[in-house]
Amino acid sequence: MKGRNLVNCLALILLANFATSQRVEDICQLFSDGTVLRDPESCSRSITCQDAKSTYTTCSGSTPFFNKDTLKCVKTLDDSDGCDVTCANSTAKFINDPKSCFGYYYCADEQTPMYGKCAAGQHFNGTTQSCVWTQHSTCTAASFDYCSIIKNGVSFDSNLGCNRYYECTKGALVDSTCKSGYYDARSGACISKSLVHCDAHPYPTNVCGTAKSPKINAYVADGATCHGYFYCTQTSDGSPDPAPKWGHCGDDLFFDATSQICTTPIKVACSEDRCQGRTIPFVLSATKGCRNYLRCSNGVTKDEKSCAGNLFFDEEQGSCGRDLKIRSLLKRLSRSILYISQQN
Ligand SMILES: *[C@@H]1O[C@H](CO)[C@@H](O)[C@H](O)[C@H]1NC(C)=O
Ligand SMILES: *[C@@H]1O[C@H](CO)[C@@H](O)[C@H](O)[C@H]1NC(C)=O
Repeated sequence: MKGRNLVNCLALILLANFATSQRVEDICQLFSDGTVLRDPESCSRSITCQDAKSTYTTCSGSTPFFNKDTLKCVKTLDDSDGCDVTCANSTAKFINDPKSCFGYYYCADEQTPMYGKCAAGQHFNGTTQSCVWTQHSTCTAASFDYCSIIKNGVSFDSNLGCNRYYECTKGALVDSTCKSGYYDARSGACISKSLVHCDAHPYPTNVCGTAKSPKINAYVADGATCHGYFYCTQTSDGSPDPAPKWGHCGDDLFFDATSQICTTPIKVACSEDRCQGRTIPFVLSATKGCRNYLRCSNGVTKDEKSCAGNLFFDEEQGSCGRDLKIRSLLKRLSRSILYISQQN
């Protein structure tokens, strides 16, 4: 019993790095470099995306409108109604920002929309004319009519999860999922998970258990990283937590689902990118045999190498050594003794 309590205390101390969701301050955070789209606030402006930043270009003269399909300035648009932010009929009212969930315009009169934004963690709600906490808002990227500003076939981040993205097909927004890896907004492609900075990991199947045996107040592996986990809380009706929060262990620690704690990576069998969350240049690889190691760069695996001859990779020393097996055996032995003494 005592040992169990100790483990729980450690878990509380070690497992507290919960992620906070980031908000999209610039629409180009969703689009890959070089994408051109129409500015959702104006029929005559285009936006070119580079490094997640918007650059605006305005059409004028005899071709005052921007066509999102041909990406050219044109004389007329088929459907120019509603492509400008307008204060018509909205005097002394707040109206929604078509580019974000947190932005709004205040219309002092019929002519001049004045931009403003809600505080962090809040969305603007046009119905209630106020900023509300995001958990009370249903606004998502899908709330915007993206297919009226971007041409068909261009993929972009949906912010619905690391492996998901949007694409307009025949003018309709399609929610798509990467076949493998995570969606990378900068390149507009699905790439290796560890290369994408994203905390919205998709839930593994039955992440918090089943109706018959729900996992309550438990940490579970995220199935995407070696240092991350989901925390399943207790629901009022005892059903599995439908929305467990993701968090991660501190630097150079991996999550171990069996003991429910963050611990030395060497004790954790995890075959996701073992360089992720590490600060050292060489780490033991998940390949069997203890001979292979990974070269890490900025928390991402560069390549896998193998120790020469009959040497084994020693993560503590960061090099290949001869007596590793004996040392790790001794270590394992002393750990079991500690474990047994904790249990009694
Ligand atoms: C403003 O109200 C008038 C009269 O009700 C209507 O004809 C017009 O279409 C409205 N304009 C907008 C932009 O809603
Ligand atoms: C705005 O608030 C109304 C009333 O509370 C609610 O019905 C609606 O879903 C909210 N809209 C969004 C986008 O959250």
